[in-house]
Amino acid sequence: MSAKFGTLLGTSVVKKQIVALTGLIGVGFIIGHVAGNSLILFGPEAINGYSDMLHAVPELLWIARLILVASLVLHVYFTILVTLENRAARVDRYALQANHGETNWAKKTMIYTGLLVFFFILFHLTDFTFPDKTGPDTVLTGSEGEASYGLYGLVWNSFLSVPRSLFYILAVCCVGLHLSHGIQSLFQTIGFFHDRYTEKIRLASNVLGALVALGFSLVPIFVILRHYTFGPDV
Ligand code: HEM
Repeated sequence: MSAKFGTLLGTSVVKKQIVALTGLIGVGFIIGHVAGNSLILFGPEAINGYSDMLHAVPELLWIARLILVASLVLHVYFTILVTLENRAARVDRYALQANHGETNWAKKTMIYTGLLVFFFILFHLTDFTFPDKTGPDTVLTGSEGEASYGLYGLVWNSFLSVPRSLFYILAVCCVGLHLSHGIQSLFQTIGFFHDRYTEKIRLASNVLGALVALGFSLVPIFVILRHYTFGPDV
């Protein structure tokens, strides 16, 4: 049984399916996260309330985190394996690209955008997940009695730095690109090729990628515009 499982995992198709499935879990998380983040635009109560709700049942939160971390690790690990295999079988790779019109550029950017997204996530956790949500970094300019604005204050103050905001915008554009090419690859992996739908899938995944990049970017853009146009943040 376990030898059979090992052989199954060794096949290129199964590796690609694992990359696709774990990628899909990431897509689900990203869509939920971009929707949750948009609450920042509605003020401190909205986003802090949402965060409190997510942390209300720590066991559930940790199960979700474990699934996410496992998905990320498996996604990266099997992507590396598949990439190495593809390199070793260059002829097959060109044959596949010729068949399904996938450009070399799209494939190449997947590995770079993927790497950037991976390191961005590590940086991002140190930004908003690990820090104290009641400390001095959560106090907004102009707030009475140095009152803490919780997670809202932390995110807000963080995006007051223009270089950091620009870095976030670059990173979320990479997330959008990675996601749109990833979804197209996913359909190839599950063997869904149909002249009628391929163009529609490409368009839909590009629109989704653009919406994700735009949705995430709205937060730093909003903070910068609001702060540098209207002055004090409260
Ligand atoms: C402007 C863009 C973004 C903003 C403002 C943002 C904001 C946040 C905030 C405030 C948290 C902490 C939530 C809490 O502790 O309640 C968080 C956590 C997190 N974010 Fe983001 N995020 C952004 C983009 C992204 C992107 C693009 C990714 C992934 C590709 C991502 C992945 C994560 C992960 C994995 C966590 C940890 C979740 C956990 O606590 O388990 N974020 N983000």
